[in-house]
Amino acid sequence: MIEVDSNHSSLVYRRALKFGMSKEFLKDYGEFLGTKKWKWVDDLTLTMSNGQRCFFTHGRSADILKVSQTMGMSACQGHYHTKLLISWWANPDNLFFAMNVGCLINQKSMAFNYAKNFKTRFVLGCGIIINGYPRLLPMVLDNKGDWIKTLV
Ligand SMILES: [Fe+2]
Repeated sequence: MIEVDSNHSSLVYRRALKFGMSKEFLKDYGEFLGTKKWKWVDDLTLTMSNGQRCFFTHGRSADILKVSQTMGMSACQGHYHTKLLISWWANPDNLFFAMNVGCLINQKSMAFNYAKNFKTRFVLGCGIIINGYPRLLPMVLDNKGDWIKTLV
């Protein structure tokens, strides 16, 4: 398993370093989480089954289209809790996608207290890529903010 590092997974490290803990005393993510076989990377570029490359990052910019165009390949990211979208762009050689996959979090949890007065609701969902083509799987919530247990 390869995991893309995020502001969430690095929070403990950033706090420890901020308050003077030496990096040598900290366990790596895999050891800390009990997942020693998982590899953590800043970003990831994979070759898809259609031979094109795709760049994966936790969240580089609110505009994933710009990330994709800057990298010169398709791109996927999360982090932006209200964004579930696919944009397309092309050059004379190829067609590319830029996908924001929403999030999988409970906006009512204590971790997201900072968002309790937001007027927008987080968009839960996943993104998948089949044969080099992206697809979004929105997870529809009821009026209480609970998932209706159906993928559309
Ligand atoms: Fe994030």
